[in-house]
Amino acid sequence: MVDCGCESSLPRSTLARQGTSGTLKTTIPDIDTPALLIDLDRMEANLDRAASYAEAHGLSLRPHTKTHKSTLIGGMQLERGATGLTVAKVGEAEVMAGGPVPDLLVAYPVWGEGKWARLLDVAQTVPVTVALDNLEAATGLQRHARRVGVALRILVEADLGMRRCGLPPGESLIALATAIARMPPLRLEGVMFYPGHINLAAPDGEVALAKLATDLDSVLAGFKKNGLPTGVVSGGSTPTLYHSHRIPGLTEIRPGTYVFNDCTQVAMGACGWDDCAASILTTVVSTPRPNAVVIDGGSKTFTSDPLRPRGEATFGRVLELPGARFHKMNEEHGMIDLSKHDGPPARIGQRLRIVPNHVCVTVNMHERAHGIRGESVERSWPVEGRGKLQ
Ligand SMILES: Cc1ncc(COP(=O)(O)O)c(C=O)c1O
Repeated sequence: MVDCGCESSLPRSTLARQGTSGTLKTTIPDIDTPALLIDLDRMEANLDRAASYAEAHGLSLRPHTKTHKSTLIGGMQLERGATGLTVAKVGEAEVMAGGPVPDLLVAYPVWGEGKWARLLDVAQTVPVTVALDNLEAATGLQRHARRVGVALRILVEADLGMRRCGLPPGESLIALATAIARMPPLRLEGVMFYPGHINLAAPDGEVALAKLATDLDSVLAGFKKNGLPTGVVSGGSTPTLYHSHRIPGLTEIRPGTYVFNDCTQVAMGACGWDDCAASILTTVVSTPRPNAVVIDGGSKTFTSDPLRPRGEATFGRVLELPGARFHKMNEEHGMIDLSKHDGPPARIGQRLRIVPNHVCVTVNMHERAHGIRGESVERSWPVEGRGKLQ
């Protein structure tokens, strides 16, 4: 069954097989390349596992939609018990507000009159929480919230080791939270942090997790001492997802990448290859030298995020050719070296599926995703949040 008008990406011969019911029996060979494939069995297993974990540990699951960028998959997460969804950009909030979402968290600094106005438009249709780490942004949001007469929930962002946004545990964080608690119609609900620095496969991973737990404890103690709310304590990432119960005080987790997983998550021990649901379907368009293969996708298909597990950069895992090294890219060319591949040589026209290094940015390069089960294409959907950078 194909929906969302995916016919436009399929060849005429396929369209001709469309029955009067409007359904279409499509298989992977019908899809033109390069194309984003999502293994639905694997994706559903990833969603189910995270939902069961969150339920078992009494944690609210608020998946970050930056990875799938689709209201369809956001809906699947909510059907499985997610309490709401997370976005980074206001443009993503506008997209997700068009889906079946009970409320949204913007876990990214929102700055500027235009963005504040647009976010308050969203907040008039769906309850919105914003994370922030400065009074200037709070003042701007307060002004726009007053203008439209809508309450805006706020989390103050703490830096618990990521060294990106957020105030360190201590006086400045408490002072910001205290000020926001007195800025109606802003409603302070608690704290947000992002543990993106923690890689539990690294030698210092356990130490970093223990330090984060201690630092969060001191933040929450400070909040309680000052009569500040701690009802929402929002953290979570994919590498720490199944360790979230080890962080006392955490109430909510926001994993994003877990929906599809990728080479980076495998390298960090966060998942296995069988948990990787996304791959890019490509075609071999040139075999110019022995052991050299060129596919029809480069940095405009995969992005340039390298993986260097053994020092040498690679750009994805070629599923059909064990030992193949996807070692170089131009914008539209992907270069694969087969000198360590132990099997028949690749041929012109051969289809290759490649698991990307960093799936979130790869998805952002594609207009559509094709959901597969085995060889059949069950549905196709637009990646509505792609390119919504503002
Ligand atoms: C603020 C915030 N929350 C949650 C996530 C999701 O983390 P992950 O990609 O590890 O699932 C991200 C990812 O960039 C993030 O920036």
